[in-house]
Amino acid sequence: MNARTNYLAVTLLIPVLFGIKAYGQTHENKLIVNVDAGRYTISRHIYGHFSEHLGHCIYGGIWVGPESPIPNTNGIRNDVVNALKDIAIPNLRWPGGCFADEYHWRDGIGPKSQRPTMINTHWGGVTEDNSFGTHEFMELCRQLGCEPVICGNLGSGTVQEMSQWVEYLTSGNISPMTGLRKANGQENPWKLKFWDLGNENWGCGGNMTPEFYADQMRRYSTYCRDYGDNHLYKIAGGPYGSDYNWMEVLMKSEKNRNAFSGVSLHYYTGTWGWENRSATDFGEKDWFDILEKALAIDTIITGQEAIMDKFDPEKKKGLIVDEWGAWYEVEPGTNPGFLYQQNTLRDALVASLTLDIFNRHCDRVKMANIAQMVNVLQAVILTKDAQMVLTPTYYVFKMYRVHQDATMLPVKLDCENYALDSRSIPGISASASRNADGLIHITMTNLNPEKAAQLTCELSGTDRRSVKKGEIISADKMNARNDFGKPEQVSLKAFSAVKMEKNMLKVDLPAKSIIMVELE
Ligand code: AHR
Repeated sequence: MNARTNYLAVTLLIPVLFGIKAYGQTHENKLIVNVDAGRYTISRHIYGHFSEHLGHCIYGGIWVGPESPIPNTNGIRNDVVNALKDIAIPNLRWPGGCFADEYHWRDGIGPKSQRPTMINTHWGGVTEDNSFGTHEFMELCRQLGCEPVICGNLGSGTVQEMSQWVEYLTSGNISPMTGLRKANGQENPWKLKFWDLGNENWGCGGNMTPEFYADQMRRYSTYCRDYGDNHLYKIAGGPYGSDYNWMEVLMKSEKNRNAFSGVSLHYYTGTWGWENRSATDFGEKDWFDILEKALAIDTIITGQEAIMDKFDPEKKKGLIVDEWGAWYEVEPGTNPGFLYQQNTLRDALVASLTLDIFNRHCDRVKMANIAQMVNVLQAVILTKDAQMVLTPTYYVFKMYRVHQDATMLPVKLDCENYALDSRSIPGISASASRNADGLIHITMTNLNPEKAAQLTCELSGTDRRSVKKGEIISADKMNARNDFGKPEQVSLKAFSAVKMEKNMLKVDLPAKSIIMVELE
């Protein structure tokens, strides 16, 4: 996990890279949206999620069991599924994370009373009873209408074990594995595309060197077969943050490249060295720090892309950011191993900045997964027994749905910086896309918690357009949040402070706000 410290060095570069303008200088904020220059699709998979056997993500947050008084379908919470369907979740990664590299899938199939238990050594040392396993996960994906992303155990499992899991899931042939699947109630093979070859194998997934991992990855990949017309998109375990050497080792050899379709990248806003930072109790310095760290992923992706471009100029291999999000101190009184944290307007901005960056890099970033979906880290949903809360981050995913599978429209932004003490970062973030119906969506964030901004937006290469609708996420306080049994403080509202003037769009961005404008 040493690589995590590298991002500190990268974040220090941000003010240098962006600090071209004098601090505090006021000038016109201008956004050019190149409507005629769209080449790449923003894969809907950029809006993916991650669920791990960690704290109350799976147990309590998703799985309550068929006998639970909490309304459920086949043991899975109805409220959570319905909320996730509303944000059109495209894919879900499981069973970890660090947990994946000590998970043995055969423990999670068959009659529940006969499933062995294990100790979840990474997350709180609790007993895992394996009541949520392969069939339950595939049922969850069915209910969500999303694609499963399964992370195989390369750290502590065997090649045979991984190979047989793929066979169990996807083969239509007659074999001991498919017979077992049928005996467990699933006659037909499932469709499964996304397959991870381990997780964080530089750290919790086996503490490997990149060279050793690459050798193992090729071996495991060889035996993860395509059965029938099922084609696996294999994702190699990639670096953390700006560990460029790891990427270089994976990408430079053709043999390696032949073993995968994508390489993962993990990056958290916060974590090591930040453990004592509260998710909810903070001032403007912490607000600035976190947003600056969120923006740093732009530099990291650019650096990792440069390495990928060197060996794969045609951009055939995807960069898969399958863990990202804010990481703070756990909520007081909760198990430190459960990583349960609240979520504020600040986290909504972490999400909007990050998703804008992914959108703009969609020529290489083909999938991303926020960590994690329910009750862990930057969750979109929190649950307490039968209650459910939709976090500010949830509403960003709801607002940004419009970008899924749309054509990315390149933007050029010239904006005033947001400065604090001697540091400064761009005051506005934006991305844009055009969907299959020709509607243009522009998402914009004002990072400054005190100062409103006016943005002039030029639509280049298009006829006159009109505003169809606007939406906003904002609140009075930086740490506004939604909590159990209280009225929502942060949600998605209609927004009208936007007008077209001679083909120029003028938008008034309130302080600390996220805006979406739809143009027809
Ligand atoms: O998301 C929590 C953990 O963070 C994951 O298990 C691991 O991959 C990363 O270190």
